[in-house]
Amino acid sequence: MATERTLSLIKPDATARNLVGAICAKLEGAGLRIVAQKRVRMTLAQAQAFYAVHAQRPFYPELTEFMASGPVVAMVLEGAGAIAKNREVMGATDPAEAAPGTIRAEHAASIGENCVHGSDGPETAAQEIPFFFAQTDIVG
Ligand code: RTP
Ligand code: MG
Repeated sequence: MATERTLSLIKPDATARNLVGAICAKLEGAGLRIVAQKRVRMTLAQAQAFYAVHAQRPFYPELTEFMASGPVVAMVLEGAGAIAKNREVMGATDPAEAAPGTIRAEHAASIGENCVHGSDGPETAAQEIPFFFAQTDIVG
């Protein structure tokens, strides 16, 4: 399987509840390597730009206000099949449907406040990583 990089965000609901360490432990435990990491507070405009793909969805205002409501931890994860592996460790968007042992099953409160974001494909990862990181910030 090819080595990939993917963008992960620990969302404001999780940073508020001191879940950064627990979530990083799950990601690292699954074999994903954190090759870049920073804690940032997104502006509403940044959150709107990051989730522009969802601009026409009914949950877009709620989602973008939530993402700007507190700090997030942005990470680049690297590993074999990292994009799908990260999505597997995250669990389904709705925590009620997330498989046991996944981050969202264990920690997420609702479909909106669901602890983590992960790029959903190679093209998305290639767009989302530079949103937060310069090439020189990524140290494998
Ligand atoms: P993400 O992009 O954050 O990794 O999550 P995802 O791929 O699992 O889900 P996606 O469909 O891309 O939705 C992005 C985020 O929008 C919020 N959402 N709220 N209230 C709702 O029905 C609803 N649906 C989606 C969630 O925060 C979801 O992660
Ligand atoms: Mg998504």
